[in-house]
Amino acid sequence: MRTSLTGLILIVDDNPTNLDVISEALSSAGYKVAIATSGERAIQQVERRPPDLILLDVMMPGINGFETCKRLKSNTKTCDIPIIFMTALADADHIVKGFDLGAVDYITKPFQEQEVLVRVRTHLQLSLLTQNLEEQVTHKTLALQTSQLQMIQSEKLSSLGNLVAGVAHEINNPVGFLNGNIQPALDYVQDLFGLIDLYQKNYPQPDADIENEIKNIDLEYIRQDLPKLVGSMSEGVKRIRDISNSLRTFSRADSDYPVACNIHDGIDSTLMILKHRLKANETYPEIQVIREYGDLPEISCYAGQLNQVFMNLLSNAIDALEESNHGRNYQEITNKIIIITELSNGEKHVMVRIRDNGTGIGIDLQKKVFDYLFTTKGVGKGTGLGLAIAKQIIVEKHQGSISFTSELGQGTEFIIILPITI
Ligand SMILES: Nc1ncnc2c1ncn2[C@@H]1O[C@H](COP(=O)(O)OP(=O)(O)OP(=O)(O)O)[C@@H](O)[C@H]1O
Ligand SMILES: [Mg+2]
Repeated sequence: MRTSLTGLILIVDDNPTNLDVISEALSSAGYKVAIATSGERAIQQVERRPPDLILLDVMMPGINGFETCKRLKSNTKTCDIPIIFMTALADADHIVKGFDLGAVDYITKPFQEQEVLVRVRTHLQLSLLTQNLEEQVTHKTLALQTSQLQMIQSEKLSSLGNLVAGVAHEINNPVGFLNGNIQPALDYVQDLFGLIDLYQKNYPQPDADIENEIKNIDLEYIRQDLPKLVGSMSEGVKRIRDISNSLRTFSRADSDYPVACNIHDGIDSTLMILKHRLKANETYPEIQVIREYGDLPEISCYAGQLNQVFMNLLSNAIDALEESNHGRNYQEITNKIIIITELSNGEKHVMVRIRDNGTGIGIDLQKKVFDYLFTTKGVGKGTGLGLAIAKQIIVEKHQGSISFTSELGQGTEFIIILPITI
């Protein structure tokens, strides 16, 4: 980028005297000067060494100044270089034509040296400002895009998080009643059985009615089955409690600073939430999840956001597996997700690898997968934000890295590396 007002000026004129006078004036004012004696040469020279401004004569043999200007303006590499026409053709039509072709100014011959210098300086300054402005706009647009991404991400996180935390909370109370009452219910039942036993002991010859009823309800069977039945109810309640705990672990609201946490809990809670997508259905068998967890310390992180990363990577893996199952024979399919965690880099980092044997990603698409809004999934299925968000959370929030290796038709492995302390 040019930052000063001195620059390279290309003077295009077929008249050697004009060239001498102007180049002398510009050089003594501190500019670097290049010269071309025809339109064709000027175009070649601009391509080779783009100047910061062009002073262009109109009447020249070969292609004239207007045509030269037209060609320079139609080339994306040269179209932004400011052009000032210098000509004796001072009538309004010519001047308007010059401006229409994209020139920034028009100097009529014979010219005053001072005038040329002032105009050159003004237009260099203008072009410098425009260039800076364009850079700023690009920079701001990028910043805006990033903050938009952050907003969508936090919106996604907080709405999902709130919903999940709310559901988990609502489930907790009734689960608490069940859990608290199952054991007393079992105790009451045992008491009642005890009472029946006592009756039977004290009244070994009951009425025929009672005898019949005992047979009807199969009292002996009830006595054996009831504790088992209550046991399985208690198991069910325990599972609901696990799900509710996972939901709460998953949707942990993050504080403004990183907090020590166990990432295995995060992965497990995410898997629990995705369980319905791992189950077998009529088109494909169950997706096996193999966890090879290393012995990891707690790491300081934003747990809620990390869970969002696991969610995105695991859902992508499931999507890729589902897609790879299309048109295949049920019996031939083995869907696998392998999650490996280990310490790396002299125990300063943890590495999490999530591998699937799904579709894989073709070489041509590999450069794009982290791009904002890049998706290969149908409308309503993917927004193309998952990996962009994951990358932002890992790289910017956690100073970690995320990469992948993939082979089309074989599968994909995402690798996350996180520092233990941030
Ligand atoms: N494990 C994977 N296997 C195969 N392709 C993948 C895998 N992970 C990502 N991709 C490819 O990268 C693209 C971008 O993924 P990303 O998660 O950013 O968006 P998405 O899944 O399409 O939509 P979203 O996550 O926003 O719902 C996907 O559309 C898919 O083509
Ligand atoms: Mg995704």
